Amino acid sequence: MKGGDSYSFRGKHISLALVSLFLFSTLMWTWERNPIATTLRSAREWYHLSSEFPVEAPMGSVGNTKLEMGIEQSLIPITGNRTKSQTDTEGAKTIDSIPAESPESQDNQNVNSSSKSKVCNYAKGKWVADTRRPLYSGFSCKKWLSTMWSCRMTQRPDFSFEGYRWQPDSCNMQEFDRSAFLRKMQDQTIAFIGDSLGRQQFQSLMCMATGGEDSPEVENVGWEYGLVKARGAIRPDGWAYRFPKTNTTILYYWSASLCDLQPLNITDKQTNVAMHLDRPPAFMSRFLHHFDVLVLNTGHHWNQGKLTANRWVMHVNGKENEDKKIAEIGNAKNLTIYSIARWLDLQLASRPRLKAFFRTISPRHFFNGDWNTGGSCDNTIPLTNGSEVMQEGSSDPVIEGALKGTKIKILDITALSQLRDEAHMSRYTVRGTLNSSDCLHWCLPGIPDTWNELLVAQI
Ligand SMILES: *[C@@H]1O[C@H](CO)[C@@H](O)[C@H](O)[C@H]1NC(C)=O
Ligand SMILES: *[C@@H]1O[C@H](CO)[C@@H](O)[C@H](O)[C@H]1NC(C)=O
Ligand SMILES: *[C@@H]1O[C@H](CO)[C@@H](O)[C@H](O)[C@H]1NC(C)=O
Ligand SMILES: *[C@@H]1O[C@H](CO)[C@@H](O)[C@H](O)[C@H]1NC(C)=O
Ligand SMILES: *[C@@H]1O[C@H](CO)[C@@H](O)[C@H](O)[C@H]1NC(C)=O
Ligand SMILES: *[C@@H]1O[C@H](CO)[C@@H](O)[C@H](O)[C@H]1NC(C)=O
Ligand SMILES: *[C@@H]1O[C@H](CO)[C@@H](O)[C@H](O)[C@H]1NC(C)=O
Repeated sequence: MKGGDSYSFRGKHISLALVSLFLFSTLMWTWERNPIATTLRSAREWYHLSSEFPVEAPMGSVGNTKLEMGIEQSLIPITGNRTKSQTDTEGAKTIDSIPAESPESQDNQNVNSSSKSKVCNYAKGKWVADTRRPLYSGFSCKKWLSTMWSCRMTQRPDFSFEGYRWQPDSCNMQEFDRSAFLRKMQDQTIAFIGDSLGRQQFQSLMCMATGGEDSPEVENVGWEYGLVKARGAIRPDGWAYRFPKTNTTILYYWSASLCDLQPLNITDKQTNVAMHLDRPPAFMSRFLHHFDVLVLNTGHHWNQGKLTANRWVMHVNGKENEDKKIAEIGNAKNLTIYSIARWLDLQLASRPRLKAFFRTISPRHFFNGDWNTGGSCDNTIPLTNGSEVMQEGSSDPVIEGALKGTKIKILDITALSQLRDEAHMSRYTVRGTLNSSDCLHWCLPGIPDTWNELLVAQI
């Protein structure tokens, strides 16, 4: 997210070295105990620490590429124009309208995803108030939720954003039920691969599947996937947990760019990293045969600042890229997304059991500035810009285009999330209220729970 000045301890006459030492020991202490819930960190600390790790560098300097701008611009008119006012949604009479196919009753549905999406478009629908939300408590889901994303643990005073559920227009979406979910996922593995928004979705699913309880029976099986903390690293590259009763595994692997990153000189950490735009992350090719459900995402790391900071050097066909056109960040991102989609679609031919999803981009809501120029998202009233998505297509044309004609399903959350500008972290952290805001990541419980409900309904 933020790396820069806005989070520095400006004006405070504390030695940065002391602060870092304190943060580092605090972090190591909490980390060893509880890799996900790093209870003593604030967002500010997080950004400082993560900036030390090139690959894990927080995302944020986003939106200044042509492509991102294109997406953002295309979003505003679409949702602005085609949404209705909140009052339209008050009546619950449409909640059970148009009983469509029940996703569970159609076993061979996945054979033809294009015909299915015609029948039932989960992305089209509306937000409705629901007193049975949220699905878990932000106070109790400590074990699976990073404190920095747990708005109930921060100084945030308003929580009205927690009380809504997504109601698709033409799909009969079953209420999320964790035992039913785990039974359905018997002997299966769900893998999230992507950036920190993917990690949010992973943590959300862990909270949903455990009901937010500590669930000591859930086993950490990260080692099976090489997801163990390397010496000197702050965290592993991901996490994997198994629910022993149903033998269900949920894992997350960090791959911000969704392409393969290989250090040019393994023995020298200071050298550049080859960013193979046309190759899937090594982890993904290596473990794909273990997965029954795969959820990919990328987007906000695609900007020149991140590439330079991480010393990622674009490669195509195994060689350093010399094509000026591809070198443009939007084109590079497009090439990677299309390459991944093609590669995965080929894999699906020989792995018909695998259900693969590509999540569309998660919208940002920085107003009156960008992430590093005082942009904020201070609105606390839900659905001020309407509650409904009426468009048929996705607000993320890149992902939508790349998946066309493939057997990969779109997990289209862009337009529905665009309506929820009040549900980001905003300026609140555990320790205090900041001048700058995180209008990219979401409060949990919150919007990524809905992404998971849409995912589970489509599995
Ligand atoms: C709103 O939608 C109408 C009809 O689809 C279109 O003609 C009009 O240009 C749209 N307005 C904006 C601001 O996008
Ligand atoms: C609501 O829509 C208007 C017009 O499209 C736009 O300018 C504004 O930024 C939107 N506000 C939010 C909170 O999304
Ligand atoms: C899949 O859907 C398309 C479009 O609806 C249709 O033309 C095609 O025949 C279907 N294929 C199968 C295998 O059902
Ligand atoms: C758990 O599921 C995996 C397949 O995902 C299977 O290979 C393994 O045998 C199962 N373990 C048990 C104890 O049933
Ligand atoms: C890799 O880095 C090491 C250490 O800096 C250096 O000794 C070695 O020559 C480098 N190898 C290549 C192929 O550049
Ligand atoms: C992305 O790549 C695909 C396939 O090469 C191409 O058809 C499409 O026009 C590209 N889109 C953009 C926005 O560059
Ligand atoms: C917050 O911003 C205001 C105005 O931009 C500034 O005067 C104030 O010192 C800032 N506070 C902190 C804690 O940085």
